[in-house]
Amino acid sequence: MTEKTAVYPGSFDPLTNGHLDIIARARRLCDRLILAVLVNDEKKPLFTVEERIAMICDNVASDGGAPVEVLEFSGLLVDFTQRVGARMIVRGLRAVSDFEYEFQMALMNRRLAPAVETVFLMAKEEYSYVSSRLVKEVARLGGDVTSLTPPAVADALARRLHR
Ligand code: PNS
Repeated sequence: MTEKTAVYPGSFDPLTNGHLDIIARARRLCDRLILAVLVNDEKKPLFTVEERIAMICDNVASDGGAPVEVLEFSGLLVDFTQRVGARMIVRGLRAVSDFEYEFQMALMNRRLAPAVETVFLMAKEEYSYVSSRLVKEVARLGGDVTSLTPPAVADALARRLHR
């Protein structure tokens, strides 16, 4: 049997419990999961790519299925995917509102690299409204995000936004 490597790309700015749920599901479907953290300086991320990678490494369990590697990437996702020997891109779908953007990205990626398939996984219902963007907004305005992110991420948000 050939090894099935999957790539789960994203900004992860910051990691949420929704991401962790997709990671756990993806690890049951592949032999090796690469988390590809976008170096997106134009988007002015709240956390540096090193901080985002550390958050993921600190919160992904070591014994939950396929091994996970966390790498940064820039440039085209399909180029990165093929470079690491993967043919599967994993994305989480929360609500219908995600569909249009994800559909366009999946079709563009397929056009660029027909051998690469995008696979969509549904997050747990309780995370269907959780996004990094909203988590940052709630944290910025002083709301409680402790049930939406790992505790260390909630702490990092509080430190970064209210120092
Ligand atoms: O978590 P995000 O911010 O929704 O992830 C978006 C991501 C990283 C998947 C997307 O921005 C991406 O793939 N960027 C790399 C550039 C690229 O390949 N663009 C063409 C794809 S349509």
